[in-house]
Amino acid sequence: MSKTALITGASSGIGLELAKVFAREQHDLILVARSEDKLLTLRDELSQKYGVNAVVLSHDLTEKDAPQQLFDQVQQQNLSVDVLVNNAGYGDYGEFASSEWDKIQGMILLNILALTHLTRLFLPAMIARGSGQLLYTSSTAAFQPGPMMAVYFATKAYVLSFGEAIAAETEEAGIGVSILCPGPTQSDFIGTANMDKMAMISNVSSDKLPTAAEVAEFGYTALQKGQTVAVYGLSNQLLTFSTRLVPRGLLRKGVKQFMSS
Ligand SMILES: NC(=O)c1ccc[n+]([C@@H]2O[C@H](COP(=O)([O-])OP(=O)(O)OC[C@H]3O[C@@H](n4cnc5c(N)ncnc54)[C@H](OP(=O)(O)O)[C@@H]3O)[C@@H](O)[C@H]2O)c1
Repeated sequence: MSKTALITGASSGIGLELAKVFAREQHDLILVARSEDKLLTLRDELSQKYGVNAVVLSHDLTEKDAPQQLFDQVQQQNLSVDVLVNNAGYGDYGEFASSEWDKIQGMILLNILALTHLTRLFLPAMIARGSGQLLYTSSTAAFQPGPMMAVYFATKAYVLSFGEAIAAETEEAGIGVSILCPGPTQSDFIGTANMDKMAMISNVSSDKLPTAAEVAEFGYTALQKGQTVAVYGLSNQLLTFSTRLVPRGLLRKGVKQFMSS
């Protein structure tokens, strides 16, 4: 019987590419994001190309009740989720003191609260079945504090910490957990986060960055290999490893300089 993957943030970027990879690997899909039209187009494309069943459940996951409503819809349709991909997320570039509160609050609700609630809702059935997979999209941002994107970096540190803890809690229950940590990647993320204001980002032509498809393929493979923390790319691996060696004060200064440039 084919497995079903529920993917949040499936309407663009890494989530959309993950949907393509899971479909290619013969998973049925539950596609979640706000943009219903984009999800419907993707559903039609993937069901035609790979012969999988795909269901669209469009939600704004910053709404407090959205994870529970999503879970209830999945139950009502008698679907069982074998793979939960908590991928939806966004960032916001700029000094915290002058940030737009609604954007910050939404980021915490989406990047942290919805992801945690969805895990709480879908994990018990996986444990009861003795099988299941959880894939979290964190970031290289998880490994150090992020002046100029203070809340975003902190949300991604949460995802890494939470994901690793769930991996440890469930390793004897037959659950596979991977935390995907990409660095800057081609997608709508950079524009949504206003990161094009950063010289370090705007000076790099976007086609020099890894594609969302490459990152998604890497994340899928990490999940199948049982790799708990999966940092995309050698330079990101070196960078995240080096954060363990550098004194925290120096690290903060270095990141501030990089992020302010
Ligand atoms: N691209 C990068 O440089 C990069 C680097 C490291 C980590 N990441 C992480 O990768 C993940 C995916 O980002 P991406 O790069 O693929 O960016 P993206 O192209 O902007 O995709 C973000 C996805 O999240 C969905 N989303 C946003 N707000 C939502 C909401 N309120 N409710 C439900 N879904 C919502 C969007 O769909 P709708 O707008 O249709 O709702 C979209 O499908 C994020 O967690 C991000 O933090 C990205």
